[in-house]
Amino acid sequence: MSRSVTVRVPAKVNVQLAVGGPRPDGFHDLANVFLAVGLYDEVTVTPADTLRVTASGPGTDQIPLDATNLAARAAIALAERHGLAPDVHIHIIKDIPVAGGMAGGSADAAAALLACDTLWGTGASQPELLALCAELGSDVPFSLIGGAALGQGRGELLTPVPVGGTFHWVFAVADGGLSTPAVYRECDRLRGAAVIAAPEPAPVLLDALRTGDTTALAAALTNDLQPAALSLRPSLRETLDAGTHAGALAALVSGSGPTCAFLAKDAASAAALTTALLTSGTCRTARAAAAPAQGAVVVPTPAEATS
Ligand code: C5P
Repeated sequence: MSRSVTVRVPAKVNVQLAVGGPRPDGFHDLANVFLAVGLYDEVTVTPADTLRVTASGPGTDQIPLDATNLAARAAIALAERHGLAPDVHIHIIKDIPVAGGMAGGSADAAAALLACDTLWGTGASQPELLALCAELGSDVPFSLIGGAALGQGRGELLTPVPVGGTFHWVFAVADGGLSTPAVYRECDRLRGAAVIAAPEPAPVLLDALRTGDTTALAAALTNDLQPAALSLRPSLRETLDAGTHAGALAALVSGSGPTCAFLAKDAASAAALTTALLTSGTCRTARAAAAPAQGAVVVPTPAEATS
């Protein structure tokens, strides 16, 4: 009987995204404080005659279902390293907004890597998995570990960050995506010839996470990519304003956008904010989610769960 392995993996929001100048390799040095949030994709891998990818859920018509899919590339990278054929059917159940600046594609890659490692019994160590993740994309290592972490370099060099409470977020999902490279290019264009300081994590922000202080976190949230996302998609200003008027403690673009993130005082405020955003006409949908969320985990099969 061919067995399947399913991995559940969270979305992320960047609570600080400090962007340095462009590097010779085209990337930007970052001080990127990631926080995993409780919106999840599920990735199932099953032995098959050849590698194939299917997906279900909102927005999946926008994701490639061939070997360029980041989850497929993860399976190929692990198989190559261990001299195996990457013959698996990868099925992605999407709940993380597609191309929304919430690391959905990166999450699927981290999940596929962990799922294939479990299915094939390749027994990769955490450092080996993290190195493979970093080859796949700057945000992929964080999707594997979850929780909260400071990402330096291009975002792949992680230091876990302690979190002393639960934070309640609402995410307003826009129609269509924004291209991450285009947003970084727009950031460089808007900055022109300005001298850009080396990106550093903000001590007040790390303190707010450590103490679980929502008000302090709201005051410390920053995203250097926000002006670029707003320049490419000016309508996001209306979404941010709608959330602020509806009582959000803070509003910012998530990563490279176009999803907008709102920090709420508590779970009840997040529920009210979600309703207000849904009826505001400024977004396609709105979702509440708590943070921090656990990183990629293998979901027990029904038999394992009951034994
Ligand atoms: O690493 P990833 O594939 O997610 O990056 C996508 C694109 O985002 C890169 O090709 C680059 O244009 C931009 N990027 C960047 N600096 C980073 C991360 C991403 O310029 N630190």
